[in-house]
Amino acid sequence: MGDPITLEHRGGPDLRVREPSTPRHLDRLSQEVLRLKGELNAVILAHNYQAPEIQDLADYVGDSLGLSQQAAKTEAEVIVFCGVHFMAETAKIINPAKTVILPDRDAGCSLEQSCPAGRLEAFQARNPNFYTIAYINCSAEVKALSDVICTSGNAKKIVEAAPKDRDLLFVPDENLGAWVTEQTNRPMTLWQGNCYAHVEFTHDSIMNIRESHPDAPLVAHPECTKSVRLLADEICSTEKMVGYCKASDARAIIIATESGMLHRLKKECPDKEFIPAPTDSCRCNECKYMKLNTLSKLHACMESREPKLELALDLMARARAPIDRMLELSA
Ligand code: 13P
Ligand code: SF4
Repeated sequence: MGDPITLEHRGGPDLRVREPSTPRHLDRLSQEVLRLKGELNAVILAHNYQAPEIQDLADYVGDSLGLSQQAAKTEAEVIVFCGVHFMAETAKIINPAKTVILPDRDAGCSLEQSCPAGRLEAFQARNPNFYTIAYINCSAEVKALSDVICTSGNAKKIVEAAPKDRDLLFVPDENLGAWVTEQTNRPMTLWQGNCYAHVEFTHDSIMNIRESHPDAPLVAHPECTKSVRLLADEICSTEKMVGYCKASDARAIIIATESGMLHRLKKECPDKEFIPAPTDSCRCNECKYMKLNTLSKLHACMESREPKLELALDLMARARAPIDRMLELSA
């Protein structure tokens, strides 16, 4: 079997937008967002990596799994999705009768980009016995080609439930896939994609921060490389990080994931200190896609009800089956 396609997704243009804003301006926008939320009968769902002012306005803040579960059960007419595009797309697939809007259509993901559907289809054709497990960080087209979806919060469970007589193909995150293989002892063919932000943490950068805080445990996201995971006390999804930190006796905890997580953790555990794990190049780590969303864009999308997620009905139906399988297995 040949190697899956390797694509590099480091660097690239800095898409982040820094808006000049005074506290009064932010406060006025926040109040307007809340007014529009009532007017639209909307629910605001936000990922743990969103900017603090967006998290503070959201009805629910969580990881990819929690956000999917919220999208499935909401009774609101409009879902305002503050995260990245594949997350909003997943919400639309799960609950197609709802209007799903997002602050910035360009909020992509390096993992999604690493796995174009055409290349996946060609790769799957090499082995008819493949059972494809797709990390939720992928396009609707890739979901439609997959047998089941997983998130970092349920990947172990999903892989354990995979049929024993099939050859497992895990796309598109090689680091999450390698970690799950270590957990389950199920060999898998791994698509060679990665999260451009999480692979910036290195063994040396983590060793340095651990040496300066010898009593602080390290919590890392499974999108980190193995050399970082080996140094971690806990490896888990962003939502499970909240549970770990609440239960921990440690006064200070090092967090190796996107910097937005720190706001959520400080709110949930005000008596603890959270130390952002540094990368080699800077002290923090930001996902340039997640940070495309701003309070002004959130307000603008609610005012205009644009951009809106629109997907072909047959694509939604094909992508929904593997998502439903995941939701059933995660219930
Ligand atoms: P979680 O589901 O753990 O929040 O991860 C989503 C993600 O994009 C991490 O980079
Ligand atoms: Fe994608 Fe990485 Fe950003 Fe998560 S942090 S949305 S995996 S680019």
